[in-house]
Amino acid sequence: MSALCQNRLGAVIFAAGQGTRMYSSTPKVLLTLLEKPMLGYVQDALDPLCPGRVHTLIGFGADKVRAAFPEREGRFIVQEKQLGTGHALLTAVTALDAGGGGAPEYLLVINGDTPLVETEILRDFTDKAVGGESDLAFISLSLGETGAFGLVLRRGDEVAGIVEARDFDETRHGPKGSEVNAGVYCFRIEAVRPLLPLLSAGNRSGELYITDLVELALGRGLKVWADRRGEDARLLGVNTPVELSRSEERLRARIVERHLESGVLLRNPGMLRIGPEVVLEKGADVTGPCEIYGASRIAAGVRIASHCRLVNAVLERNVEMRSFCHVEDARIGERCVVGPYARLRPGAVMDEDAHVGNFVEMKKARLGAGAKANHLAYLGDAEVGAGANIGAGTITCNYDGRKKHLTRIGEKAFIGSNASLVAPVDIGAGALIGAGSVISKDVPENKLGLARAKQLTLPKLGW
Ligand code: UD1
Ligand code: CA
Repeated sequence: MSALCQNRLGAVIFAAGQGTRMYSSTPKVLLTLLEKPMLGYVQDALDPLCPGRVHTLIGFGADKVRAAFPEREGRFIVQEKQLGTGHALLTAVTALDAGGGGAPEYLLVINGDTPLVETEILRDFTDKAVGGESDLAFISLSLGETGAFGLVLRRGDEVAGIVEARDFDETRHGPKGSEVNAGVYCFRIEAVRPLLPLLSAGNRSGELYITDLVELALGRGLKVWADRRGEDARLLGVNTPVELSRSEERLRARIVERHLESGVLLRNPGMLRIGPEVVLEKGADVTGPCEIYGASRIAAGVRIASHCRLVNAVLERNVEMRSFCHVEDARIGERCVVGPYARLRPGAVMDEDAHVGNFVEMKKARLGAGAKANHLAYLGDAEVGAGANIGAGTITCNYDGRKKHLTRIGEKAFIGSNASLVAPVDIGAGALIGAGSVISKDVPENKLGLARAKQLTLPKLGW
């Protein structure tokens, strides 16, 4: 049944709202959990259900949302004014009707602020909604504290409607229950399309509510079904900083648990923040507090000590990373030793067995196999050959105020302490640079380059 459903199914994520309760100028769906935007999680959960047919409805900060997901271009629908979730659905259906292939038979709709949702929940829900020939289906939860959620009204056992928390009135709606609307719907478009023009903004928010469709559908004898999912925290929305923090913590704990169970050694796991796409091989050993995000990949045998922050970092087997390192968009080869207190910025590459020590910064620089920069150095726009030694305090002067220039250091060259290498400049293989030199001309292979004032010994006149 599943495959059949999928061919008839499209999906829309509602992501046009501002999220006023987050007090942020960033659109809510771009706020991150473990450094990944909320919307990315929802898209990832939907994609397997109807690949290529997941649309995202955007409005507030549309350009920013577009820019964050360039690979989704062509599958955005713009809701110019955010007149409510009912208007959001109307906008989406109108756009799908007008699109090349026309609208799908069934439309899965989900609020973009539910980042913990999982594919399996949505698959099960849509399979049942479509299999049971529901015209309008939605997921409901049972919560002790119903907060700002829409409340599901029942007459006996049957769903009678959804009323928003702000509009709830005990005298009209009866005693408040614990069943709420999760904000996940499956519509048979043919059945629901005629109801959309009937929505009205006659409520406390002055918005068109998608939830009013339930009563409208029932009034026309359509088949309405609520998929009751109890207390499932994976369906909770994120509307406030408290909710964002709680959802992020749930996700964090879930990811850490998954790695532990797969054979990664995580020490002080409560203090580890690991992004959802990070790959940690069995046998890696990480001590918290640490943050590892993005497309980082940590191979078996790697040891990472506490207080490191890694973003899109690749650490090959048996790397030893000491405390307080910052690594971003960098690759560290097998058996390298890094830190403590090293900073590898975008484009830093360490070949196998290289060492980078305390207060060394690398940017767009390659350190050849077995090369060492153990103390207080800046290597920017540089190529360092295998086995070279970079003395303490060495600086590649890569920037002339306008452009960046390259420094090349040959194999087994030895750069004395506190040398300034004024780029563009080439230091040949095996060359030796005297400590304290300011080198602005190339130094050939196996020569000694010295550029500093001669030391004088003079009488202490006038003392
Ligand atoms: C909504 C539901 C509520 C449900 C809750 C679950 C309505 C009227 N209420 O309330 O029953 O319990 O979700 O989390 O739908 N959006 C647009 N365009 C708009 C308005 C909203 O795209 O014009 C988007 C928002 O960006 C958001 C989503 O729709 O991602 C839901 O909107 P939000 O304002 O958060 O609705 P809730 O008040 O949470
Ligand atoms: Ca919400």
